[in-house]
Amino acid sequence: MTIPTVQFNDGNSIPQLGFGVFKVDPAGTERIVLDALEAGYRHIDTAAFYDNEEGVGAAIARSGIPREELFVTTKLWNDRQSGDEPLRAIDESLAKLGLDHVDLYLVHWPAPAKGDYVNAWQKLVEIRDAGKARSIGVSNFLPEHLAAVIEATDVVPAVDQIELHPAYQQRDVTDYAAARGIRIEAWGPLGQGKYPLFEEEPVAAAARAHGKSPAQVVLRWHLQQGNIVFPKSNSPERVRENLDLFDFALTDAEQAAIISLERGGRVSAHPNEVN
Ligand SMILES: NC(=O)c1ccc[n+]([C@@H]2O[C@H](COP(=O)([O-])OP(=O)(O)OC[C@H]3O[C@@H](n4cnc5c(N)ncnc54)[C@H](OP(=O)(O)O)[C@@H]3O)[C@@H](O)[C@H]2O)c1
Repeated sequence: MTIPTVQFNDGNSIPQLGFGVFKVDPAGTERIVLDALEAGYRHIDTAAFYDNEEGVGAAIARSGIPREELFVTTKLWNDRQSGDEPLRAIDESLAKLGLDHVDLYLVHWPAPAKGDYVNAWQKLVEIRDAGKARSIGVSNFLPEHLAAVIEATDVVPAVDQIELHPAYQQRDVTDYAAARGIRIEAWGPLGQGKYPLFEEEPVAAAARAHGKSPAQVVLRWHLQQGNIVFPKSNSPERVRENLDLFDFALTDAEQAAIISLERGGRVSAHPNEVN
């Protein structure tokens, strides 16, 4: 199995499919990340806020996989955006991960009420230049936030990691990003299990047609849309299931039918409300 890669605007590449660890409890993180690495995942998405960077680091160390074969993302939390706080926060994350650099470091939310996200982005540029993050990007940024950081630094984020699933495709953000060479990472790719996505007829029909699960159909849809995804699961079986996406392809009609499931509805918070 070969996981495709996606190239960033800075020349670096990321495995298009990874494993996310939001709501994976700290005690169980090492075991499930080790399962994921043994199954074949090479891209792990964590965050300081998830409180499980140590578990991710422990799994990486135990796996014995050479560092250069792994892609590790972590994120700067909202209360560390001001002044030189981001410089301290990355050092803390690296210590917890047991790494000397991450592959991707993200500003987790714009938190506009704090007024510090442009400063945070300037500090991420310093962190990249110091070699502590190979690539830098943002998360939950709307076009207005992207415009502000690009205007301030002339550095275009490598990615914007946003809520994106068939019911909420954020065309305004994805069009803005595509025009500027910003890759889209889709968080909550399965809708976080918060609406009956798997029962939608286009998903169920494609699952029957290809002999795959509805989750595999939705993840395959993301890959064919060009999104970078890292579904989370606490179940070793589902961890393996979510990796088994490379022996089938959705037709253009199946792809379009899933696009038609857009409902304009978030399952999580609006970026301007998380501060
Ligand atoms: N930047 C941000 O603000 C942000 C926000 C949220 C998430 N994220 C990132 O995105 C990653 C993925 O998003 P997410 O975890 O929120 O949501 P998600 O991947 O859409 O959904 C996870 C849910 O789907 C279930 N699931 C996973 N695989 C399944 C399968 N094959 N069949 C049926 N159910 C399945 C999981 O349950 P089980 O665990 O029981 O299998 C869990 O309840 C996170 O882990 C995190 O790395 C980023």
